[in-house]
Amino acid sequence: MLEYGAGNGRVSLALARAGIDVVALDLSKPMLASLVERLRCEAPAVRRRVRAVYGDMVSHALRRRFPLVIAPFNVVLHLYTPDEISGFLARVRAHLAPKGTFAFDFSLPQPEDLARDPKRRYRAPRFRHPSTGQLVRYAERFEYDPLRQLLTVWMEFAPEGGPPWTVPLTHRQFFPQEMRGWLRGAGFADVRYTADFAASAPDAGVDSLVVQARLARQSRF
Ligand SMILES: C[S@@+](CC[C@H](N)C(=O)[O-])C[C@H]1O[C@@H](n2cnc3c(N)ncnc32)[C@H](O)[C@@H]1O
Repeated sequence: MLEYGAGNGRVSLALARAGIDVVALDLSKPMLASLVERLRCEAPAVRRRVRAVYGDMVSHALRRRFPLVIAPFNVVLHLYTPDEISGFLARVRAHLAPKGTFAFDFSLPQPEDLARDPKRRYRAPRFRHPSTGQLVRYAERFEYDPLRQLLTVWMEFAPEGGPPWTVPLTHRQFFPQEMRGWLRGAGFADVRYTADFAASAPDAGVDSLVVQARLARQSRF
């Protein structure tokens, strides 16, 4: 199978341990280096099943097809423009075997997050830095661009006795029926949504959708 946005292998490693061959593609060199490092601690049979590939999910061509293509944990929210979305879906189509499944999840836009005042700081509980042991104060600011449907969360870290730092995280906000439209337009059919990783039907309180889709038989592409 092919995992897009594999990160440092949280999902790829579990699948390889279950006996599945995985191509783990990511655009972050540090995450892939961490994946390779983690592979060193695995049994030789698991190591042989994982191939780490550096590449952009929007454009990278592997020249082979897979029965299963996945993009777990909000990977698709890193597709920021219409060209990136359609480029990625064209790549998935090119890499999916005719009767294969494309599966991914995405968090739904939360109206209260989109409406937050970008000047306001929302404090969260302090935590201990996992390497230095320092107590770190943590706050978030939310900034929503409604025309591009991009939500940026500015994550502000302030360790006691050390310099502060800020990490921005931008996610494209996809509404459920919009995502269905993107998939249909890109030649996917049989699009199914389940809720919050529980295999149940989504209702109005759902946070994340899990999506499964197949290639349309009469794909225009
Ligand atoms: C939230 S992490 C998910 C990691 C992993 N799938 C998991 O479930 O633990 C999103 C990953 O997508 C990767 N990513 C973002 N944009 C990408 C792109 N254009 N091409 C490939 N990977 C990308 C990031 O580097 C990051 O590792």
